[in-house]
Amino acid sequence: MARLVVSGGVPLCGVLEAQGAKNSVLPIMAAALLADDDCVIEHCPDISDTDCAVEILSELGAFVSQKREADGSRTVYINASNALGFEIPDSMMRKMRSSVIFLGAILSRRGRALISFPGGCELGPRPIDIHISSLKKMGVRINEIHGFLDCECDKLCGTDIDLTFPSVGATENIMLASVLCDGETVINNAAKEPEIEDLQNFLNKMGASITGAGTGCIKIKGVSHLNGVRHRVIPDRIAVGTYLCAVAATRGNALIKNTEPGHMSSTLSFLTDCGCNIEVVDKDISISCDELHSVKHIRTMPYPGFPTDMQAVFMSLMTKAKGNSVFVETIFENRFKHVGELHRMGAKITTDGRVAVVEGVKKLYGARVESTDLRGGASLVIAALTAEGTSIIDNVYHIDRGYDHIEKSLTALGAKIIREQ
Ligand code: UD1
Repeated sequence: MARLVVSGGVPLCGVLEAQGAKNSVLPIMAAALLADDDCVIEHCPDISDTDCAVEILSELGAFVSQKREADGSRTVYINASNALGFEIPDSMMRKMRSSVIFLGAILSRRGRALISFPGGCELGPRPIDIHISSLKKMGVRINEIHGFLDCECDKLCGTDIDLTFPSVGATENIMLASVLCDGETVINNAAKEPEIEDLQNFLNKMGASITGAGTGCIKIKGVSHLNGVRHRVIPDRIAVGTYLCAVAATRGNALIKNTEPGHMSSTLSFLTDCGCNIEVVDKDISISCDELHSVKHIRTMPYPGFPTDMQAVFMSLMTKAKGNSVFVETIFENRFKHVGELHRMGAKITTDGRVAVVEGVKKLYGARVESTDLRGGASLVIAALTAEGTSIIDNVYHIDRGYDHIEKSLTALGAKIIREQ
């Protein structure tokens, strides 16, 4: 299995381009199932989750082809006119937990879907009860048997849905289920993430009638059909945030181009608070950092709060900051698995339930560590870049789910990092 070998201690300097957003490309590829003709999706990140989405679409009968662009991104061409499948095999559901986002689109297309539960998860239990209750409210009959969900409906009906939590995936699933249904659907307490807005923009280009994405109330008026369109995926605010943390951790100086700074207010403000110099010019963000001090209280929250997906990488940054930082993880039950690995490198972190206290240390030391999940893996890469000596990071496949060739991006900034198979 692939691993990364990192020699720490090099300040990262240079210029990077933002990759396309993982959390946008997946629901947008699911939405392409609903078009009568070709969809062209540009600026897709070259990551394994994109591969999983391609596999699912192909399994359902869609014709999918891809082109690698000069900037390393992929353009994905999808024609779903023959995508009459309604079953996602268990192996695919387990490979990518967000495969559940395809449920709404398949139901909209076929009125029937057979999937398995996305499975036990590295971030703790990841129930889909909000997805299920919302779809039931729209008229879907759902039979849960032995880990499988057999879903059927004669007709999807628009209705008012009040989410008990602004779940990103459930909001997307309802949007996809309701876009072609009879009547109007109103989602109250909807997730406000920028990726939801990207999905709305994609669907509206196709001919949908959706308003409100980015606010807590999304209204979807059902339409009779959707056309194929061309769309460029938004920049990945979490990948950009990760590289900014890597530059800051190594006391470097870099420019990240073609980002969407407006989507990153909370991350940029925490980076400023801990001593980074951040300059935003249009879509470009430059960062430099001489000295880091702790940030007293970091609480993960739904957007526009501090993203749970940034928690692990920001924690890694705080391991060598002056003073103590307190992290409270409110979104996922078990998102501190990286802590045990950071300990191996000399970090001082204590956890109690959903709270972690990081006591800044002077040095981290190279060690052999294991990625435990996507963002946890990225946090280990950051720690390794600042550590004295060489680190080996195993289980890189977690990192490859969301970072487009992380070693190439970091090498472009001067890091000493290689991938070994
Ligand atoms: C999405 C993102 C993920 C991010 C997360 C929170 C994608 C592909 N993934 O995941 O990167 O970390 O948002 O910003 O976009 N929950 C329930 N019942 C449900 C659904 C969710 O209890 O039916 C709980 C989850 O267990 C979790 C919380 O709600 O504790 C947030 O989940 P959700 O917003 O749905 O996250 P995802 O869509 O899975």
